[in-house]
Amino acid sequence: MSEIALITGCSGLLGAAVAQRLATSGYRLVLTGRNEEKLNANPIADALKVSADLALPEAVEQLFLAIDSHYGEPPSLLAHCAGSIIIRPMHRTTQEQYRNCLQNNLDSAFFTLQKFIQGLLDHKTCGSAVLVSSIAGRIGIGNHAAIAAAKAGVEGLIRSAAADYAGQRIRINGIAPGLIRSAATEGFFKGAKAEEQLAAQYSLGRYGHVDDSANAICWLLCNEADWVTGQVLAVDGGFSSIRPLVKS
Ligand SMILES: NC(=O)c1ccc[n+]([C@@H]2O[C@H](COP(=O)([O-])OP(=O)(O)OC[C@H]3O[C@@H](n4cnc5c(N)ncnc54)[C@H](OP(=O)(O)O)[C@@H]3O)[C@@H](O)[C@H]2O)c1
Repeated sequence: MSEIALITGCSGLLGAAVAQRLATSGYRLVLTGRNEEKLNANPIADALKVSADLALPEAVEQLFLAIDSHYGEPPSLLAHCAGSIIIRPMHRTTQEQYRNCLQNNLDSAFFTLQKFIQGLLDHKTCGSAVLVSSIAGRIGIGNHAAIAAAKAGVEGLIRSAAADYAGQRIRINGIAPGLIRSAATEGFFKGAKAEEQLAAQYSLGRYGHVDDSANAICWLLCNEADWVTGQVLAVDGGFSSIRPLVKS
């Protein structure tokens, strides 16, 4: 039997793209997202689809019970693509926006990863997880305080959990994307001028496509990256690491 892969954020573009790749590779799939209608619209017919708010530990518990009752074993792969974006200066960020940001990004990552690992430990099997950070979690970018705090937390979680479970051959990695055009960011692309300006932020001359991040997630998740753990791979067109010479 093929391994079971749990992909979160499947009512969004990145989760759906990862799910599509893993379906093509023959994995048994569990797709999850909050919006049931969008989740059920996913065209992968033979996947188990469960809607859940993963910021709530009891909903995560229910998700894993549903997986157990459907497949009779826990997932050995987790692609945690659930999360949100908020771009606002601190002084205009409400407590509710801040809490939502932490819940959607950090709480969901912690509770989902915790339950995923517990399943592997109970079944004495190895596995692999990839979480999604952001360039905002690693360098200071204006107007990103709440999401920076949440994603920096995700990166700390990745490294610490990777250290805890390497001995059980459970690998835990992450990616840190730059701007990806998706439902979460569509509002930034208002017209050709805005699109051009967004692309110009990146030394490679374009903003990110969902495929860039989906490919990186699938590589880290699967056996090709069998000797990689505790890493967060920047998928950001060089934004966080290079500073080309500007010619006037
Ligand atoms: N787009 C970018 O520029 C960018 C840049 C850096 C990092 N990221 C990260 O990339 C990931 C994917 O984002 P995306 O661009 O694909 O956005 P998206 O299209 O809005 O997808 C986000 C997904 O996360 C789900 N989600 C959010 N909060 C959740 C919660 N509490 N419980 C369960 N599911 C939850 C959403 O579910 P519902 O829609 O059903 O509510 C949706 O399926 C996120 O972690 C985001 O922070 C994105």
